Amino acid sequence: MKIQENISLKNYNTFGIDTIAKRFVIVSTLTELQNLIKTEKDLFLIGGGSNMLLTKNIDKLVVLLNLKGIIVNDTKKDEVFVTAEAGENWHDFVQWCISQNYGGLENLSLIPGNVGTSPIQNIGAYGVEIKDTFQQLEAIEIETGALKIFTKNQCNFGYRNSVFKNELKGKYIIVNVTFKLTKNNHNFNISYGAIKEFLKNSTHPTLQEIAKAVISIRESKLPDPKIIGNSGSFFKNPVILISEFQKLQEKYPEIPHYIVSNTEVKIPAGWLIEKSGFKGERFGETGVHEKQALVLVNYGNATGKEVYELAQKIQETIKSIFNIDLEIEVNII
Ligand code: EPU
Repeated sequence: MKIQENISLKNYNTFGIDTIAKRFVIVSTLTELQNLIKTEKDLFLIGGGSNMLLTKNIDKLVVLLNLKGIIVNDTKKDEVFVTAEAGENWHDFVQWCISQNYGGLENLSLIPGNVGTSPIQNIGAYGVEIKDTFQQLEAIEIETGALKIFTKNQCNFGYRNSVFKNELKGKYIIVNVTFKLTKNNHNFNISYGAIKEFLKNSTHPTLQEIAKAVISIRESKLPDPKIIGNSGSFFKNPVILISEFQKLQEKYPEIPHYIVSNTEVKIPAGWLIEKSGFKGERFGETGVHEKQALVLVNYGNATGKEVYELAQKIQETIKSIFNIDLEIEVNII
């Protein structure tokens, strides 16, 4: 474990933003991490770097969490507990589960990032969130170095949200996550329109087929960060009051929406952004993706500041046209 100086973070964030870490270290074991935090408390943690927009150089010690390994606890008839270390790549982990015929994570194929960061924003897609199969996680408290178990309740998961984005922000380092998966009798969720459509000729789709559907739907809409820098959905889908929604629906009868509760409706931010004329627009080195308006992109040399300015312009426009506050999902650093 060697602390390096003045390292470019371009290859460590999926937006591909070129900022500098004053000090940078790669940590590969729990013991290394525990030793490090005895003396270093002011840390900037990076997993897959898939949910951040870097707008400046980082003065804190940047710690790349590279803990690897998967452990299976297969003692029950129908379910299996699988623990993955924080540094495992999320998509590779999901594909490994599928190869073992373990069900539950297939809809979450191809989401960028690592296992250790997946609970922080309760990653989700196509009707499934990680909270649905989450069993527990282990995290180190930075202040004391103590290892603590968090159950599902303690994580307080919500839509793209958890306790680690709120009260416990910056206080813990997640080192592994355990999922409860199915071995037989899988509970597939193929309710999502595009998946249903993709599988319309398949009467009993397999795990592999569902993963294939998800991968192909994502590939058709979302840019591959290895080719064009991005952080997935840049904004959250806003939740508004039904009374406000009804006013909008009078003006825009086609507005897509999902009922959240008796009083609230969720609107796809991608629709609002497209309707405001931003979809596919380029602004210098940054822009709005041509196939999914929820995704902001870096064409190669964008600075984090440029991307953030575009995000603010979008927020202002959505506010003035629809009177809706768009909340940024990505962490702005
Ligand atoms: N839409 C548009 N224009 C666009 C994009 C979307 O009109 O450019 C409308 C369409 O009507 C479409 C609806 O929005 O039917 C929903 O679009 P989509 O199915 O692409 O889903 P989303 O709500 O835009 C959310 C997640 C994605 C996730 C998909 C699928 C959020 C913030 N985003 O997007 O998550 O993959 O659902 O479940 O909730 C991510 O977090 O990085 C991410 C990609």
